Amino acid sequence: MAKQVSLEEIVSLAKRRGFIFPGSEIYGGLANSWDYGPLGHMLKQNIKAAWWKFFVQERDDMVPMDTAIIMNPKVWEVSGHLENFSDPLVECKVCHHRFRADHLLEAKAAEPGYDKEAPRDVQAIPCPNCGGQLTGQKNFNLMFKTFIGPTEDSTSTAYLRPETAAGMFVNFKNVLQATRRRLPFGIAQIGKNFRNEITPGNFIFRTREFEIGEFEYFINPKEWEQVFEMWLSEIKRWWQDVMQINMDNLVWHEIPDGERAHYSKRTMDIEYKYPFGVKELHGIAYRTDFDLARHMKGSGESLEYLDPVTNEKFVPHVIEPTFGIDRMLLVSLLEAYHEEEAPTAEEGETDKRIVMKFPKHLAPYKVAVLPLSKKPELSGVAKELAQTLRKNFMVDYDETQSIGKRYRRQDEIGTPFCVTVDFDSLNDKAVTVRDRDTMAQERIAMAELSQYIATKLTA
Ligand code: GAP
Repeated sequence: MAKQVSLEEIVSLAKRRGFIFPGSEIYGGLANSWDYGPLGHMLKQNIKAAWWKFFVQERDDMVPMDTAIIMNPKVWEVSGHLENFSDPLVECKVCHHRFRADHLLEAKAAEPGYDKEAPRDVQAIPCPNCGGQLTGQKNFNLMFKTFIGPTEDSTSTAYLRPETAAGMFVNFKNVLQATRRRLPFGIAQIGKNFRNEITPGNFIFRTREFEIGEFEYFINPKEWEQVFEMWLSEIKRWWQDVMQINMDNLVWHEIPDGERAHYSKRTMDIEYKYPFGVKELHGIAYRTDFDLARHMKGSGESLEYLDPVTNEKFVPHVIEPTFGIDRMLLVSLLEAYHEEEAPTAEEGETDKRIVMKFPKHLAPYKVAVLPLSKKPELSGVAKELAQTLRKNFMVDYDETQSIGKRYRRQDEIGTPFCVTVDFDSLNDKAVTVRDRDTMAQERIAMAELSQYIATKLTA
């Protein structure tokens, strides 16, 4: 039975088992920076690979890219990021803690009995840290600044990208010419992004360095409504069939007129019921021709498309589904976490087991090979078996502690199959395979093990 897990439990498991560590920990850490450990890296790779397969490989209308993090600063001037990519900042006059004004106002509005007609004055809210008075709000630009080359002045100023989209917009013409694509088609990219967030927090939910997987889907504006619906249903399929989450935990938030970015005709935020509240997971926006039209003006290059059938010439419009990879990973940890009573090695006894029920294709290790004893005649066979399995799967090998404790450890890191090599294995050339979720055990011939696991993983 799924338990409502707390964020603290996830943070603790993530560190204990090597999914995610606090960044720079031996130097006292760096607030809100996190390092993906061995298990976290594998999980992230698997999520990204599944994303690629679903949104790029399995479609005939998508091409991938990998563009630079540091771009010509003109890109950010033209895209509007240097002027507008900011959040409203307030600071406490007493303790000097900083807050996002919009977050404080949102929290206030969620309080019981809040008068919705009352003026939205952030200065009327006491500092959540010390109760002191807050300053008026000012806009704080989130772009991370750096310098190119040895001089540090305005001529060498550059920025770390805050989103991957711009790299795809400025390459639209290159991609069109190189691939000879016809509309509609998309350019997809996964990569690191940097935002100097005022209030990062909630583990990997909001950080200053994070990954986005997003694509720009170029269309004839006449088609925008049906293309938007097509992507919404693909996004549903992604969450249901690939990430296999409980769909009741998603909230589909249509952003109303007046709250969308000025260039967007439709935006949907896909929110998730996190332990710290319902908040954005990812989104999809119809961005019209805003980006290409601006880059066309800013660069002087034509970014128009000539339809070879109708001879119509126009600036393509764009539908942009965007996914925070780290937020998807956080959701996969929250969804996988289960606590349940399970039998121990002692006849008739049970104890609590924590089991991460990742969809099998996302699990970091697919198989753990566990010899029943450390004796060389068993460990030799087990190590050889593990090495054979490594050709096809990520395999963990563990010969320390009791078999019960080793099963519990593999449950906690979500390994779908534990393979036990025992003394009978020396004669019958077979092993016991334990299923993570049902804990059922089956005797399988070693020669057939790879095929058995491959079949189960794709079932
Ligand atoms: N090109 C559109 C774009 O960048 P966004 O909503 O600003 O849209 C995309 O960001 C996604 O990146 C978000 O939906 C969220 O999943 C993730 N994201 C945004 N800021 C983040 C942060 N500070 N930490 C972690 N993930 C973040």
